[in-house]
Amino acid sequence: MAIRNIRVDDDPILRKKARPVTEFNERLFELLDDMKDTLYKSGGVGLAAPQVGVLRRVVVMDVSEDKSDYIELINPEIYEEEGSQTGSEGCLSLPGLCGVVTRPMTVKVKAQNRDGKWCLYKGEGLKARCFCHETDHLEGVLYKDRLDEGESLYRTEEE
Ligand code: NI
Repeated sequence: MAIRNIRVDDDPILRKKARPVTEFNERLFELLDDMKDTLYKSGGVGLAAPQVGVLRRVVVMDVSEDKSDYIELINPEIYEEEGSQTGSEGCLSLPGLCGVVTRPMTVKVKAQNRDGKWCLYKGEGLKARCFCHETDHLEGVLYKDRLDEGESLYRTEEE
């Protein structure tokens, strides 16, 4: 397992569409394990493979404060959205910044796990926001593209 470098700011890979995973092999497991380490090391709640320079549809997430809700999503698709929430969002690839984005309050996601099995997930609040943010990364979309009308990026206090 290893920590991978997180691509930031205007790195063009962040704007590319990621390809589906078709082979569930050692190479994928290594990517997932490295992404897990990188996520926890960075203190983020989610990380998508393009952020570590890999254009594959892979996401790792944990929105809990005690590492109790770790999820690996391969080829994730949001298939249901409900309600809305407006709040601040940040991204490991846009360090020191955040901005206000409106997202669904609840989303349902289907994704494969590392064995290739399709699983269903439901997220509310922060978890729903994270599902949306991370699946956006797989399309080359960043939260700063989705700022609410009249909103702009602002600096966070830390850094
Ligand atoms: Ni992000």
